[in-house]
Amino acid sequence: MRNSLVIAFSITTCFIAFVISKIFISILLYKRWRRKHAIHEEGYTGGKMVIFRSSILKSLTSDMLLKKTQKLNNKDIIGSGGYGVVYELKLNDSAAFAVKRLNRGTAERDNGFERELEAMADIKHRNIVTLHGYYTAPHYNLLIYELMPNGSLDTLLHGRSMNKKVLDWPTRHRIAVGAARGISYLHHDCIPHIIHRDIKSSNILLDQNMEARVSDFGLATLMEPNKTHVSTIVAGTFGYLAPEYFDTGRATVKGDVYSFGVVLLELLTGKKPSDETFMEEGTKLVTWVKAVVRENKEDFVLDSRLESCPMQEVNKVFNIAMMCLELDPLKRPTMAEVVNLLEKTQTDKLVIVTSS
Ligand SMILES: Nc1ncnc2c1ncn2[C@@H]1O[C@H](COP(=O)(O)OP(=O)(O)OP(=O)(O)O)[C@@H](O)[C@H]1O
Ligand SMILES: [Mg+2]
Repeated sequence: MRNSLVIAFSITTCFIAFVISKIFISILLYKRWRRKHAIHEEGYTGGKMVIFRSSILKSLTSDMLLKKTQKLNNKDIIGSGGYGVVYELKLNDSAAFAVKRLNRGTAERDNGFERELEAMADIKHRNIVTLHGYYTAPHYNLLIYELMPNGSLDTLLHGRSMNKKVLDWPTRHRIAVGAARGISYLHHDCIPHIIHRDIKSSNILLDQNMEARVSDFGLATLMEPNKTHVSTIVAGTFGYLAPEYFDTGRATVKGDVYSFGVVLLELLTGKKPSDETFMEEGTKLVTWVKAVVRENKEDFVLDSRLESCPMQEVNKVFNIAMMCLELDPLKRPTMAEVVNLLEKTQTDKLVIVTSS
């Protein structure tokens, strides 16, 4: 009897100690989180501003940032996409941000906002756009990114502006390597691993040094450990999606590799995957390039605006693109291998002028 009382007492004591230690750890973790995030609750609209601690924002209060975001108007717009409008927010000479406004309403949009936060929290990599904070209100959400002064690869390659300089080959090559490194980081170094699911030229942005930064994690999917795929509804952008995705609905890292292959083709050909001529012919960039290659006319696909470029390097990049675009996902390289292959292409500097 006495023994069972002692056992019961010990179990109760252990249980209470366990609960207290859990509460203690939770308080410590919460305090740490509070230290990392400056939160501003706005009583009037019922919104909440969260700024992640970073050196650029040290001098700013979330209150000040919030006031500025609420003054954004049409003249501050720098781009727009399917899910919202992007504004430039300049605070002073050294602090400028890109603010993406996502109107709330559909569950898809709200999920996109949450996925973006989940995937981007704590990511810090030189080839990934930094998310500085967010604002969530009953009718809309804001994502606050670092501003990429050179815009998107899509605009640089396909923009209509006549006085835009044509991207030369070394810059295109550097963009390819940078973007590949960013995606490889998501696939291999992030825990849990991240599938981006919307790799395309408008989601590759360029910083002040023309260094590529991967952005837009609205469709990103976190991979559970030991899983090779995540089942999703088909989403992404026409012209970039891997063919197997339509049949299986499975998002895999090899789907991102395929989309990156399409971006490489854009860099090589200067053509948009959704180019009107492809649409009219009921084909797409990948099919067109593969057909031209079958006829041994590779030179024909190269962007005629490229005045001179090292042809050996160009051919190697072309072969890497073809590997990424293999129909069988198992035959495609991993992003880590793509980075390796791209880095190795830059060996010879022989310059051959292409005939345009
Ligand atoms: N951090 C940023 N810095 C500078 N410009 C940006 C930034 N983020 C987005 N932009 C600009 O805003 C444009 C719109 O971006 P957004 O992600 O909303 O749409 P998208 O990628 O063009 O299309 P989709 O809605 O299909 O993803 C981009 O093409 C880019 O030019
Ligand atoms: Mg985008």
